[in-house]
Amino acid sequence: MSETFYRVLHYVAVFFFLSGIGASFMGAERAPKITKIITGIASLLIFVAGMGLIAKALQLPHGGSWPGYLHAKITIWALVTILGPVLAKRLTKGRLAAFYGIVILASCAAYLAVTAPF
Ligand code: HEM
Repeated sequence: MSETFYRVLHYVAVFFFLSGIGASFMGAERAPKITKIITGIASLLIFVAGMGLIAKALQLPHGGSWPGYLHAKITIWALVTILGPVLAKRLTKGRLAAFYGIVILASCAAYLAVTAPF
């Protein structure tokens, strides 16, 4: 697979993931099961495409050491993947703040990719 393939997949998966989280938080009723499944698959594809980009865009060898910002991105990814669905299901108060918090966290992951600050 090419760098372009992984880059577009990374973006598309982010769009599907955040839309799904939005639907889970904002819907008047519980999100349909298919939305939850699509959100989970999208999260997985963010990771898979991210790994593809590490190999193709950054050309880092398998087993080589990674720049710090990649660890930060994976931490953010794990946080939004776990917190998104759990908070959407359990929170009664502060749902709007939690949702935008997740969007801000995801935005930080994009910032880290573009600037590679550490
Ligand atoms: C919430 C999760 C994430 C979001 C919102 C996100 C967002 C983005 C965006 C917008 C870009 C494109 C930057 C550009 O085209 O210049 C990007 C690139 C990238 N992402 Fe992610 N990402 C996430 C998670 C991950 C994860 C988990 C990994 C690693 C497994 C990863 C690895 C990468 C890599 C290697 C690049 C390419 C950097 C480059 O071309 O210099 N991302 N990410």
